[in-house]
Amino acid sequence: MVKKKTNYICQSCGAVAPKWTGKCPECGAWNSFVEEVIEDVTTKKAYSFENRPILLSEIRGLEVDRTTSGINEFDQVLGGGIVKGSVVLIGGEPGIGKSTIMLQIASKLSDLQKSVLYLSGEESASQIKLRAERLKVNSSNVSILSTTNINDLFGNLEENIFDFIFIDSIQTVYSKDLNSSAGTVGQIRYVTQLLVELAKSRGITVFLVGQVTKDGAIAGPKVLEHLVDTVLYFEGDYTRGIRILRAVKNRFGSTNEVGLFEMKSEGLKEITTLAFINSSETAPGRAMAVTLEGTRPIVIEIQSLVSNTYFNFSKRNVNGMDLNRLHMLIAILEKKVGANLGQTDVFVNIAGGLKINEPGADMAVVAAIMSSFREISLPLNVAFIGEVGLTGELRSVSSMNFRINECKKMGISKVYLPADYDDSVEGIEIVKFKKVDEFLNYIF
Ligand SMILES: Nc1ncnc2c1ncn2[C@@H]1O[C@H](COP(=O)(O)OP(=O)(O)OP(=O)(O)O)[C@@H](O)[C@H]1O
Ligand SMILES: [Mg+2]
Repeated sequence: MVKKKTNYICQSCGAVAPKWTGKCPECGAWNSFVEEVIEDVTTKKAYSFENRPILLSEIRGLEVDRTTSGINEFDQVLGGGIVKGSVVLIGGEPGIGKSTIMLQIASKLSDLQKSVLYLSGEESASQIKLRAERLKVNSSNVSILSTTNINDLFGNLEENIFDFIFIDSIQTVYSKDLNSSAGTVGQIRYVTQLLVELAKSRGITVFLVGQVTKDGAIAGPKVLEHLVDTVLYFEGDYTRGIRILRAVKNRFGSTNEVGLFEMKSEGLKEITTLAFINSSETAPGRAMAVTLEGTRPIVIEIQSLVSNTYFNFSKRNVNGMDLNRLHMLIAILEKKVGANLGQTDVFVNIAGGLKINEPGADMAVVAAIMSSFREISLPLNVAFIGEVGLTGELRSVSSMNFRINECKKMGISKVYLPADYDDSVEGIEIVKFKKVDEFLNYIF
């Protein structure tokens, strides 16, 4: 016997309910339930023996077939290249550069003699041409399909063979098989399922661009992220042009890698020198730190300005780090080092628009603040790596050797470290301290 089944799915959180409800019991959103695909469900139990389990030891392993994307940083994030037949989702805020990087990759793949189809539901073919001209990509193997109907894509696949398909964006395409409009949870899920099947059955690699919601998650149900092999997020600072590509899920590699890019008028350029150092002149208030982005150490410049305050309360302001951490470090400087910062405004800025969210830069932050407070410049070929604890003790952080080696590569000749670092790195001078007051009294 065949019975029809309807599910209701919440558009904001993806919760599934058998009946329509006004308010989602999971996320509390009102009027967010939409009808999902009507399925035919047979109530009679049917047994099938078409698929039998196989012993794991008897299954022959497959070599993962990887192709380079022509962009090193992108390959690295994917774990060493694009895996054939995989589905990769790239999410990011509006205007961050998703379409730009997709078109650049499409063109690099075309240069490698791969045939590429770029389906855009957001822009017309001539808009894409305009971007291609700006990016100076002139690719003979890239075909553009400007449509929102996914059935157009499948129709075209009958006649043409493509190695790579780009869908920009998954929220704008729909299938006529469902009655709901593009962008609804049911459509996004259905179309993604079709594309995953296509990728797996024909070995075509599919890139999906995903729009993100206000709170930064990829719009659509979480299930979208479960369906695909790899999920990448594109983030960055709009004003300075630095873009970071981060893997949050990867079935074929680690999620620790990040790719660094800079947005220029001619497109995204890979950043190969990893130092975000603003200029080469010494000045009070500058100190070098080494932070980790994923597993990657980056030498960054911490800038600080300490000035007299003209109001009843002093001002503390940061750009690129946690304000509470700055308050804590200032309190430690007052209490443990005896610096009278109560009557001063303290500003801290991380050069290059990067954000630090780990304590490894603490020593550099206190050094930069004291450098500005005392009006004494620090040499730029020294760096500081370590955490400052509430009792004023200095502590090592993760991957110390990695960070020190990065300093060496960037031409830094001396590093100041916590005393509990008990290893050594050749070719760089290491100076160690136990307490923050001991450390600051030594350098100033
Ligand atoms: N002429 C230009 N010079 C420099 N940068 C430009 C220029 N035109 C566009 N850009 C950059 O490209 C960005 C837009 O890139 P892109 O269209 O790839 O973003 P997107 O993530 O696909 O956006 P959307 O979500 O709207 O599709 C702009 O925010 C800007 O930083
Ligand atoms: Mg776009």
